[in-house]
Formats: sequence, C-alpha cells, structure tokens
Amino acid sequence: MEVLGIDIGGSGIKGATVDTVAGRLTRERFRIPTPVPSSPAAVAETVKLIMEHFSWSGPVGVTYPGVVRDGVIRTAANVDRSWIGVKTSELFGEGVAVLNDADAAGIAEVAFGAGRGHAGVVLMLTFGTGIGSALFTGGRLVPNTEFGHVEIRGKEAEHRASDHAREAHDLSWEKWAAHVEEYLVHMRDLLWPSLIIVGGGVSKKADRFLPLIDLGDTPVVPAVLLNEAGIIGAAMAAAAGHPAPAS
Ligand code: BGC
Repeated sequence: MEVLGIDIGGSGIKGATVDTVAGRLTRERFRIPTPVPSSPAAVAETVKLIMEHFSWSGPVGVTYPGVVRDGVIRTAANVDRSWIGVKTSELFGEGVAVLNDADAAGIAEVAFGAGRGHAGVVLMLTFGTGIGSALFTGGRLVPNTEFGHVEIRGKEAEHRASDHAREAHDLSWEKWAAHVEEYLVHMRDLLWPSLIIVGGGVSKKADRFLPLIDLGDTPVVPAVLLNEAGIIGAAMAAAAGHPAPAS
C-alpha cells in the first residue's frame, strides 16, 4: 500500500510517499522548515503544502511530538502550548492518522530496522529536541509512553540527556554520553527490555557516543532508518488503520 507519511519535527516538516509493505520511500523526501511559531494552524497549512507537493489524495499518516490519545492532542512539551486539546480530525481532516513521533519511529524500526524480528520487550528512545520513547512487546506498541520526562537528579531526563541539552550546554561527547548512560541505566532498571534502540537525529553519530555507554548484558543499538523512521512509521500506522479519531 502506498501512503504519504509526514513527520513534524522541531526544525522541519518532512514528507514522502511510502511503500508500507516494503518499508521504504517511493519518492524523494520533501522538507519545509517548521513555521515559527509552530501553531496548529500554521503546521496544518504546511502539511497541506506537502500533500500538494505530492499531488496526494490517498491515505496520510502524520507524527506529532507529544501525546495523541483518542484523536486529541494532550501534551506539547516542545511545541506551542495551543496544541493541547486540538482534535486531529478537525485540524488535518477526517481519516488522517496522527500519532506520537517516537511511536512512529519505533513502529518503523521494529518492523524494518534495528528491532526487526525481535520478539521480546524493545525500548526505542529518540534523542533530539526532547527524548521520545516507544515500548514494544512481541512487536506490539504500548502507545504514548513519555519516558523522556522521568526525573534524573531532580530534572526531567530530556533536559539532561537530549541532543538539544548536549548542544545547549555545550557538553563534550564524553560528558553527554555519561548523562545518556545514567538515563539508560535508569530505564533498564524500570523496564528490563531485552533491546534498547537509540534513535533520533543524533543516532547518525552513534559511533561518537554509543561505544562510551555500557549497560552490561542489555544490548543498546543505533537505529538504522535514521531520518526516514518517522515518515515510514506514520505511513504504516495509517495503513494499519491507526486508532480512528474519537468523535
Ligand atoms: C515529548 C514526546 C516526544 C518527544 C520527542 C517529548 O518532549 O513529550 O511526546 O515524543 O519529546 O519529540
């Protein structure tokens, strides 16, 4: 099935058509900078431009960097607060599947990437502006986990260990890797996953920090789909009839 997947990020909104059975893009990715402020109306306008770019009238899946429960946006940690309470069907139109960005990336990684064929508990964490999480068991997702907000040393984990925190506090890779390791150890001790996948933009530089991280016999591997994971996962969710918006 061919579906248009759209990934809403802090700096760019990216879309591409996806073959959801093969798990790959069928046309080149198209990106538009995220409008500032990233209000719902401005983002919806950008999503429309991406649909027009692909002359698309088929199924669409969209990621959102917060909790989306029963078709309603519930949180907005790193985007404009006015998103909270928005009904996705009213903003993007009926039938557009909208899901959490890390959940989308995890769906793609578990189906076609680093978690492929893994039947146990898999924890995917994305390190970007915030920290996103997606939890799977037997390949099935528990949606909307928000593990980027657990407290470490009295602070939200994403304020210490996101890629944004690395840049904002000008942390060396060593120092930042120590923060990430402390966070991963905490998550391992809470969930005991049999695999942890590290994704998000920084995962393409995994060789700079993953070798510095030791979680004993819990494997920690980099994501492989990189900046395509959200797009592919959003399209897969739409193809699978991701929770229809509550009316
Ligand atoms: C949000 C998550 C999101 C993550 C990555 C966090 O601040 O609470 O829902 O998945 O950032 O964008």
